[in-house]
Amino acid sequence: MEYRGIRITTCERVYRPCDDTFMLAEAMLKEVRQGEHVLDMGTGTGLLAILAARHAERVLAVDVSDFAVACARSNAAANRAVNVDVRKSDLFANVEGKFDLILFNPPYLPSEELEPEDELTRAWDGGSDGRRVIDRFIRECWGHLREGGRVLMVQSSLSNLDRTLEMFLKQGFKVSVIAEKGFFFERLYVVKAVLE
Ligand SMILES: C[S@@+](CC[C@H](N)C(=O)[O-])C[C@H]1O[C@@H](n2cnc3c(N)ncnc32)[C@H](O)[C@@H]1O
Repeated sequence: MEYRGIRITTCERVYRPCDDTFMLAEAMLKEVRQGEHVLDMGTGTGLLAILAARHAERVLAVDVSDFAVACARSNAAANRAVNVDVRKSDLFANVEGKFDLILFNPPYLPSEELEPEDELTRAWDGGSDGRRVIDRFIRECWGHLREGGRVLMVQSSLSNLDRTLEMFLKQGFKVSVIAEKGFFFERLYVVKAVLE
């Protein structure tokens, strides 16, 4: 597939860029500034990281899935995105340093599965309330942001937007919804949280 001049090879067992990816991509393009350090959490094919790297100084792209790490690495190389590093990490477990901007299109759909078994399910399955990964992410992200650092995160109407806004506020962020769009069975939002 191609998006804004970036050629992405989709890979088996890796989330294929979709409406939520493109919403976050467009929001990110309005937000990222020259010279910034960006973290793309849950990078999948690496599309957001490669796009961000056109403007940012450095991008770290991480994913818990080995398949996604290999896929994003190969796409970064194919697009000559030399300022993108790709690494395996369960959220911030393998992430050092602080960033100006963190992007996250998380697994957010509620499901009945106790713990996702396969890599592709893990890409969208947010547990019984859709918040298994989101809540952990919001609790941990502040420690990886520079002063005034921002988070852009996709949120679905199916996994409690108000709780996300509340949690960011409690963690000391200023928070707003900067994009939203209705789809067949849900409404998607891009939440912006700025560390004050
Ligand atoms: C909805 S997909 C988004 C992929 C890509 N960022 C995009 O927008 O096309 C969510 C991604 O998060 C990854 N992921 C799930 N749980 C994670 C965790 N605990 N730590 C890091 N990545 C995770 C999945 O493997 C998947 O690649």
